[in-house]
Parts: sequence; structure tokens; C-alpha cells
Amino acid sequence: MSDERISAKVKNVQSSAIRELLKHSKMPGVISLGGGIPNPDLFDREGLQMAMDKVLSASWKEAFQYGLSEGSPELRDAICQLSAQRQISCTIDEVVITSGSQQSLDMLARVLINPGDVIVVERPTYLAALQVFQLAEARLASVGTDGEGMKVDELEELVKSTPIKAVYVVPTFGNPGGVTLSDERRKQLVALSKRYNFVIIEDDPYSEINFTNKQFKPLTAWAKEIDNSENVIYTSTFSKILAPGARVGWVIAPEWIKRQIVTLKQATDLHTSSLSQSLTYHYLQTGRLPAQLNMIRASYKEKCDTLCGLIESELGEHLTFHRPQGGMFLWAKFKYEKNTTDWLKETLAKGVVYVPGEFFYADNPDSSTLRMSYVSVTEENLKEAVARLKASL
Ligand SMILES: Cc1ncc(COP(=O)(O)O)c(C=O)c1O
Repeated sequence: MSDERISAKVKNVQSSAIRELLKHSKMPGVISLGGGIPNPDLFDREGLQMAMDKVLSASWKEAFQYGLSEGSPELRDAICQLSAQRQISCTIDEVVITSGSQQSLDMLARVLINPGDVIVVERPTYLAALQVFQLAEARLASVGTDGEGMKVDELEELVKSTPIKAVYVVPTFGNPGGVTLSDERRKQLVALSKRYNFVIIEDDPYSEINFTNKQFKPLTAWAKEIDNSENVIYTSTFSKILAPGARVGWVIAPEWIKRQIVTLKQATDLHTSSLSQSLTYHYLQTGRLPAQLNMIRASYKEKCDTLCGLIESELGEHLTFHRPQGGMFLWAKFKYEKNTTDWLKETLAKGVVYVPGEFFYADNPDSSTLRMSYVSVTEENLKEAVARLKASL
């Protein structure tokens, strides 16, 4: 059937390369370093069961009923308490529950972007954010990153000559780069947003998956200190700390944006699933989240250390990488010219997949980069995967 009836806007959006790849990763015998999903073996089945029992006994009518577009007040209140631990002070009026951060990004794009508006992203950046901004018909510009995250000096040069609407950033244990924006640059970025009056979209799914003792203060908290809260929006999610299948995330936004998000939410899906919100709320009430997070951190850190060690010892002459301090991803780059999309065909033949780096760029892709996720792979398979990568070089 002709695809002429599909809108130009949708036709322009590229299908996620990662989803295509996941097809290969399901083939028998293939070890996947490709997926970006949490390790399901660590889901807190017992805690979820306790929460679900509570939902079905104590609040089953609310759980199966329509709810408020901004989300359940009790869950929003619990999110304010969680936010305080992340150094963000907010009230429930600033919080909107979404069906995951992906929906937060989509709604923010639709609230903020007129076709042609410039949105600045990191190089590399989260692939599905690129899709969202393309769909909103933004003009994308990108700024390089190094071991301290986004190069804010480079951003400053850009904003001096080009009016921009917003900067999208994953400042803590980013996807795909695994890097964290330094405190200096956080302050610099927030000050720049105040001076040039652009919005910052702070996407924070990973800050709790911290392998260090240092807590990284969110941009949202820095913004409050310099009276720039009007320009900074924060989004986070329960996907990486509880369960992505629940599809519960949230936005903390200033009133001028929050109002519009609630209206858009009504038009999009009325509200996030009452059942999922109730499950999440009752899970938080069990008090099991801190122990659960400790377990996730310890497991992911161990796997991350293993993979880093293996790459150093086995692939050190070929690859450089930034050692992640948290999160789920290791980003590596060949020391010489090597197209990782082409190489994937060879590694697939040897039974291992990763995600070629070029898909994570809005422009000027570096095709000698790749993203590896370690969280769902056993120690034994990490060793085997690296041996296979080595064998295909
Ligand atoms: C940086 C980033 N933002 C947003 C999301 C979407 O998460 P959610 O499951 O909350 O929609 C992801 C998921 O991988 C992510 O890596």
C-alpha cells in the first residue's frame, strides 16, 4: 500500500535502530550488549506483590477508576519526598505524573517547540529524544561532550549567534555516553540559561544508579539558587529504579509549563494508568526502595567493573572509553578509524551485539563509537562477549 497517506512529519522520523537491533539480540546464542533495559532478575517481585495486594485490598476502586490528569495527589506527594532526597524542593502543584519519561519528553517538545525552533542536544545524546524532537519539527543543534559532560563553553559560543529555545541534557550518568556533567559546568549551564533565557530540559532517569558516594546536585536545584527556576524543567522515572513496565514517570515544571502539560495530558491520554500509579505509590509505602536501590547499584557496579577491566585487558589496544560512575552504559571509541555499523555485521556473525554509536548523534556522527550495556549480562557472558569482540578484530 502506498505510504503517501502517512503525514510528512511522521515519515521523517527514523525508526529506532536499537529496536531493530533487539531482533538480532534474541537470536539463539547471541550475547547482547545492545539493549538499554534494566535487569529483570533484579525486579523486586516480593515488594511488587505486597504493593499489588495493597492496591487490590485498600484502594481497588481508585486503582480501576479514572483519575486526575496531573496524577494522583498521594503519589505526587511521595515524589516530592523522593525529590527532597535528590536535593530538589518542590510542591505537589509543580509535579505532573506521566506515562514514563518518554512521554514527558514528548509533551515538553509539543508544549515548547514551534517548527524550526532550535533545540540543542549533547553529542552523543539519547536516541529517542532525537525522535521526539524530530517529530516536533525542531531544528537540532548539537554541542560536544567530554569526560565532564556537555561542553558548556561550546554552547555559549552557539547561543551568542543563534537564538535557541531549549537545551536537552541527561546530566547524570547519561545515556549513551555514561558521563556526568561536572558541578562547575552545571552552574555555568544554569547561569547561561538565565542570561540568554532558554529552557533547560533536565532528563534524569539514572542519578540513583550511583556507583560513588558523591551526590550530583541537579540543574533544577542549582537553578533555584540563582532564581532561574522558571527556565528549568526536570523529568525522571520509576523505570530504572522500580519497573519500566509500570510506565510511571514525572515532570517537575514551573507553573507556565505545568499548566500546558496538564492540558496536553488531557488531550493525549487523560491521565497515566491509575493502576500503575497506585502500584507505585503502595510500593513506595513498603519502604523497600532504598534497599532495592542498593542492590541494583551493587550489581550494576560489579558488572560495570568487570566489563571495564575486560576492555582494558583484552581490547585496550583498540578501544578507549570513559569509566562510568553510575548508570547502565559504557561508551567506547576506536583508537583508529573503524566504522562500528559495518563491524556489527562481523560481531553478529561471532554472536555478540552492541549499538553502533552513529545513531546517537543529531549531526556529525562519530562512526567509530559504540554503546555497550552491561546490566543484564552475566559475568561469564561478559567475558565471552569481549572474547568474541576480540576475535572479530
Ligand atoms: C535518557 C533517557 N530518557 C528517557 C528514557 C525513557 O524512560 P521511560 O521508561 O521513563 O519512558 C530513557 C530510557 O531508556 C532514557 O535512557
